[in-house]
Amino acid sequence: MKIPKIITALFAISFLFACNSDDPNETPNDNYSDIYNLPSTPFNYSNPNFPETFTPYVFGFNNTPTDNPITNDGVTLGRVLFYDKNMSNNNTKSCASCHFQEFGFSDNVSKSDGFEGGSTFRNSMGFANAGFYSAENFFWDHRAATLEEQVLMPIQDSVEMGMNLEGLVEKFSELDYYNPLFENAFGSTNVTSDRISKALSQFVRSIYSYNTKYDKGIEITNDIFEDFPNFTAAENLGKDIFNGKLTPGAIASCVTCHLPNSIPLHFDQPIPDNVNQVIFSGAEPDNIGLDDNINVPDNGVGAFLGIESFYGHFKTPSLRNIEITGPYMHDGRFATLEEVVEHYSTGVLPHPYLSAHMKNGDGSPRHLDFTPEESAGLVAFLKTLTDYELIEDEKYSDPFIN
Ligand code: HEC
Ligand code: HEC
Repeated sequence: MKIPKIITALFAISFLFACNSDDPNETPNDNYSDIYNLPSTPFNYSNPNFPETFTPYVFGFNNTPTDNPITNDGVTLGRVLFYDKNMSNNNTKSCASCHFQEFGFSDNVSKSDGFEGGSTFRNSMGFANAGFYSAENFFWDHRAATLEEQVLMPIQDSVEMGMNLEGLVEKFSELDYYNPLFENAFGSTNVTSDRISKALSQFVRSIYSYNTKYDKGIEITNDIFEDFPNFTAAENLGKDIFNGKLTPGAIASCVTCHLPNSIPLHFDQPIPDNVNQVIFSGAEPDNIGLDDNINVPDNGVGAFLGIESFYGHFKTPSLRNIEITGPYMHDGRFATLEEVVEHYSTGVLPHPYLSAHMKNGDGSPRHLDFTPEESAGLVAFLKTLTDYELIEDEKYSDPFIN
């Protein structure tokens, strides 16, 4: 269609005026549309349209505290904070500098660069459905008990963002574009670290994933053990291996550890058929035989707790969006999913505190010895957990104009 020239010209002129912030006749701008691009009515975060397979059974572990429910205005504030580089000491790093939407809120390097260029100790984790992670297990070493506690830690980390909470509150109190956001979310413009923590965790918690090929499959069958009609043969083979269908007697199928959070950890009990793996992550940390001794720079949960029998134990990470959150493991040692699967197939090392689920009856490390077809199937299955809608959804994207 041809747009009449006069309309185009008028549009261009009005656009020029709108951009000219030096115009003395300009009315004071209190929606800060020159700073960030937010919808006049906030996006819907608080009332997601979950599929029926996200059953209340699975929601048993909803970690939302009663004093911090998700509100549309709270998440909107959290979203702006998440993408604001002012969050770091020298205004160079936002949360999003290490947690990219396009990479499932992870990044694509083994270790990330902090505000002064220093390297993080561990691999940046992606997140989706973090509101359903069980309590007491945030971070690779489980050192944060709640999301509210967790989100303030990178800000104060000497490598990551290098701030202290007092300085943070002072700095953000002076950024007037936060006034309407705090007002809407909490009823006044007052900036406190508690409000920052609440808004940031609301944003993280609001990142729901339920539009993967896997989710579509379970919506059709409502049974994780049935072949999904929307899957390829390779993906269904991978699903069977993952769920232990091919090895009913074994206790070391993937689902044993990367299982729905709400399923009790009794391995003799069958997994209910109609359950959706909302997070593909267990509550327990584990040692999967990545190293064969305890003299390593990072002993994970064991080092944090000061309990040697937990040495080499790390958070069992969520597998949602796993295709795009590599490199893998706490130290980012594996570049590809093929390498991860090869680890479980042939690479598990003996370790004094190796998980019981990774051992044979005689205590030796268990190698699942996949055929090439099985390995390829497992990788294909893992790739069905990518949520392409989520990683392009504007409501989780960078709202800043510059
Ligand atoms: C310099 C990079 C960097 C920055 C900046 C950063 N993170 Fe992280 N984030 C990481 C790394 C690395 C980990 C894993 C650290 C660990 O487990 O020891 C992590 C872990 C997390 C987790 C834990 C997820 C889980 O499954 O337990 C969340 C949530 C998170 N970050 C949110 C944030 C928020 C919110 C901000 C901004 C306030 C932020 N991050 C800033 C690198 C970063
Ligand atoms: C004993 C429990 C356990 C079993 C069984 C298990 N995993 Fe894991 N998985 C973990 C833990 C713990 C980690 C993190 C280890 C680390 O970084 O030190 C992990 C990490 C991963 C990762 C990398 C995640 C990331 O974000 O870096 C993938 C992918 C994965 N597992 C897939 C599988 C598959 C596929 C199977 C079955 C062949 C399987 N797991 C079996 C506990 C387990």
